[in-house]
Amino acid sequence: MTQVLVTGGAGFLGSHLCDRLIARGDEVLCVDNFYTGGKANVRHLMGNKNFELMRHDVTFPLYVEVDRIFNLACPASPVHYQHDPVQTTKTSVHGAINMLGLAKRTKARILQASTSEVYGDPEVHPQTEDYWGRVNPVGLRSCYDEGKRCAETLFFDYHRQHGLRVKVARIFNTYGPRMHPNDGRVVSNFIVQALQNLPLTVYGEGTQTRSFCYVDDLVDGLVRLMASGDDVTGPLNLGNPEEHTMLELATTVIDLTGSRSSIEHKPLPSDDPLQRRPDITRAVAALGWQPRVGLRDGLARTIAYFEGLLAAHGRHAVARASPAASATAT
Ligand SMILES: NC(=O)c1ccc[n+]([C@@H]2O[C@H](COP(=O)([O-])OP(=O)(O)OC[C@H]3O[C@@H](n4cnc5c(N)ncnc54)[C@H](O)[C@@H]3O)[C@@H](O)[C@H]2O)c1
Repeated sequence: MTQVLVTGGAGFLGSHLCDRLIARGDEVLCVDNFYTGGKANVRHLMGNKNFELMRHDVTFPLYVEVDRIFNLACPASPVHYQHDPVQTTKTSVHGAINMLGLAKRTKARILQASTSEVYGDPEVHPQTEDYWGRVNPVGLRSCYDEGKRCAETLFFDYHRQHGLRVKVARIFNTYGPRMHPNDGRVVSNFIVQALQNLPLTVYGEGTQTRSFCYVDDLVDGLVRLMASGDDVTGPLNLGNPEEHTMLELATTVIDLTGSRSSIEHKPLPSDDPLQRRPDITRAVAALGWQPRVGLRDGLARTIAYFEGLLAAHGRHAVARASPAASATAT
């Protein structure tokens, strides 16, 4: 039986990954410090004999025996990662060093959840993996962007220097059930606003485009990447290349929720990219992978989740929603 460590396993992506690994019969050790994730995301797995949950902060070393490591621990939304930026960089950098050290000792294969943010504010559209990015090293987002870039560096240095079997996935915007209702991302924002018949905030004309990957597709990509041959190290872009305008997203959410919400336009922030889209040619070729879930289908499943959350917890579910949350947040 394969013993798999998932760091950040009680988070949005991590909990879906744990589901997938348990379903195929792996033994899963889920490690999380519950900074943004929570036990509720994995409670349904608690009784499973192949699942174990451990509270641990990856900025400290971990001594366990495993064959595979998915390193997902890191707050992912700007609201969360900017809350304690020093801890964010520590999580990416010290976390990577600790997990790579563990992989070196146990000879485990290790996968890093990197991000499209390593491209920064790109001059190249869509982004290909050989584009090196344009990242501000001293801005508010740098703790996340530069932390993830440094983690990538560490992965490839451990690969070259110590022969570690590494995999680096650059994840683009992903959405689905178990997203945080209050993390300022556009999909959850729109859905939560629509379910409460509040105005949906669209910046500018709403003609700027984004691409959104449904969580099941993304998890499928991560699992395939981990299973790929040792020559497939990445970095590989994983995301959905289908583009949608913000206005299209807002009207689709209103339509699917049957909401009475209006659309409220606000001035476009100066740093708002007009387009963000992955080039997934490499992932398609190397993994035989591509996203399958369409936007309407994925949104319907996500809306059902948030309906349940609001029914169970009412407005408390979004009580901490940030007023600064914007349609431009990623
Ligand atoms: N969701 C996306 O669209 C997206 C896009 C790009 C990259 N990613 C990456 O994927 C990973 C998972 O993202 P997510 O969307 O599930 O976010 P999330 O915030 O839901 O999950 C992150 C998990 O890591 C845990 N964590 C944070 N710091 C930790 C620490 N020091 N020690 C142990 N656990 C810690 C959190 O408690 C949480 O459970 C992150 O590394 C993120 O950077 C996600």
